[in-house]
Amino acid sequence: ICSINSEKERTLAMIKPDGLLGNYTDDIKKIIIGSGFNIVRELTVQLDEENVTLFYAEHSAKGFFPNLIRYMTSGPVLAMVLEKRNAISDWRALIGPTDAKQAKISHPNSIRAMCGSSSERNCVHGSDSQQSAAREISFFFGDIPPETLKHDEL
Ligand code: TYD
Ligand code: MG
Repeated sequence: ICSINSEKERTLAMIKPDGLLGNYTDDIKKIIIGSGFNIVRELTVQLDEENVTLFYAEHSAKGFFPNLIRYMTSGPVLAMVLEKRNAISDWRALIGPTDAKQAKISHPNSIRAMCGSSSERNCVHGSDSQQSAAREISFFFGDIPPETLKHDEL
């Protein structure tokens, strides 16, 4: 019997400019693969101010927003669609808390502890809900047809 595993979920992961510039891409991908994710899509792209304003629309009124735009447009990012069961929460758990400085203390094995440096420069992104994942995946990749889902051999 061959069936689609309907419990699989997708999330949007992004290696931010400091992660790419610091050459953390290979280490991060090793963690991704080693944790059982399938990388369904990937794209390296230079975002502009308009892109970042759209992607982070929920934060546009925050005091840190101008810095966030400067940081996120400072170099290319690598966007990836990751797939596995519980992809959204598992990827958030792997990256650790938003503040990378705090992550180094409270979550020393997290990705943000490894390659981030502050609450602004935290080297990676992960969708925080199914709704955000759908929006963020289509932001970078448009609609991905379901046939790209891996079939589980039973
Ligand atoms: P947020 O969605 O709160 O964090 P996360 O990335 O963990 O989902 O914030 C989005 C990004 O905004 C965060 O990754 C980096 C930036 N940011 C700051 O620059 N300063 C801050 O104080 C916060 C909370 C976020
Ligand atoms: Mg967020």
